[in-house]
Amino acid sequence: MEQYVVKGGTPLKGEVSIGGAKNAALGILAAAIMTDETVTIENVPNVRDTKVLLQAIEGIGAKVKRVYNNSVQINGGSICDINVDYEYIKKIRASYYLLGALLGKYKESQVALPGGCNIGSRPIDQHIKGFKALGAEVDISYGMIHTKADKLVGSHIYFDVVSVGATINLMMAACMAEGNTILENAAKEPHIVDVANFLNAMGANIKGAGTDVIRIKGVSRLHGCTYSIIPDQIEAGTFMFAAAATHGDVIVKDVIPKHLESISAKLIEMGCTVIEGDDCVRVIGTDELKCTNVKTLPYPGFPTDMQPQISVVLAMSEGSSIVTESIFENRFKYVDEISRMGANVKVEGNTAYIEGVSRFTGAQLSAPDLRAGAALVIAALAADGISQIEDIEYIQRGYEDFEGKIRGLGGIIEKVDSDREIQKFKLKIG
Ligand code: EPZ
Repeated sequence: MEQYVVKGGTPLKGEVSIGGAKNAALGILAAAIMTDETVTIENVPNVRDTKVLLQAIEGIGAKVKRVYNNSVQINGGSICDINVDYEYIKKIRASYYLLGALLGKYKESQVALPGGCNIGSRPIDQHIKGFKALGAEVDISYGMIHTKADKLVGSHIYFDVVSVGATINLMMAACMAEGNTILENAAKEPHIVDVANFLNAMGANIKGAGTDVIRIKGVSRLHGCTYSIIPDQIEAGTFMFAAAATHGDVIVKDVIPKHLESISAKLIEMGCTVIEGDDCVRVIGTDELKCTNVKTLPYPGFPTDMQPQISVVLAMSEGSSIVTESIFENRFKYVDEISRMGANVKVEGNTAYIEGVSRFTGAQLSAPDLRAGAALVIAALAADGISQIEDIEYIQRGYEDFEGKIRGLGGIIEKVDSDREIQKFKLKIG
């Protein structure tokens, strides 16, 4: 199996360009099937999750054409099946966005029930509650969710928890319902706004995305459009923390600095210098990183998808830090891995108590999930000596050319898939 081999200790320096937001792309690619006209979507990150979702979209009969590396054309006019095959949801949970998209367009959809995953049980009760509120019958049997409605009628839906997925799924289902829908306690992430803007570019009438009340006036049909996805807030944040961990100086380009404010604020608390440009953020590390406390929250709070990355850097910062994970119940699995590099972290429930240490040493590591895997790469780049990181397919789900971008900043990292290649790497770096 492919793995990363990393030699730590080199400060990352230079510029890195950030790709399109994976978590916006997954909602937008699903929503694109809601018209029978052609939709062109640009700045699509070329990562495993988007590839699998495009396969799922082709699997139900839509036409998908990859124009070039980060641009795709979708035409939902030839869809001949409302049932999304189990193999896709098994690979990525976000295939469940096709539930809302197909229900909105065809008033029926069927997708396999998503299981839990590495970071928590991740129920979808709020999605189901919303579909029922719009008048759909929802049947769960044989591991499938089947939704069907004679017609969808706008409703006033109050989410019991702030849910990115439920907000996106219900925006899609409601935008072609009859009448008005209000989504209360909606998620406010940048990718929610991006999906709403995309639907509006197709002719939907959605107002208030980015606030906790979204108002939707149903329309009878949607039309084609061309749309470019926003930059990935989490990929950007990952490189910002990699700069801090390696005491480097990195300009993270093609971003929206406002989306990164909570991340920049924490880096400044930790002693880094953060300089914002119009579409870039420069992070200058400091020799003595300082401890701080952080609690993950829905946007605009500190993102849960950045929790492993900040925790790893706090584990190499002077002093005691407390990290509270308030979104998912099992997002500290990387702690066992960094403990083998010398980290001193104790996890009790949803809180990690971190005592910073002055150095990490390289080790054999295994990525437990997407963001934890990225955090282990950050740890390896900062550690003394060589690390090997297995299960990197998790990382490839959400980071395009991760190792290439790191090498572009001077980091010493290779993707290998044999012991011989590992030996060659070790000989090459001496
Ligand atoms: C999205 O997951 C992201 N995935 C996650 O990113 C991200 O961590 C999460 O939002 C929070 O920001 C995609 O966008 C593809 P939620 P999602 O519904 O939509 C509970 C990554 O690394 N909940 O906002 O599944 C749930 O258990 C991934 O890119 C319910 O109880 O997250 C969780 O505790 C990891 N019932 C909380 O809400 C529901 O019906 C937030 O989940 C739905 C959610």
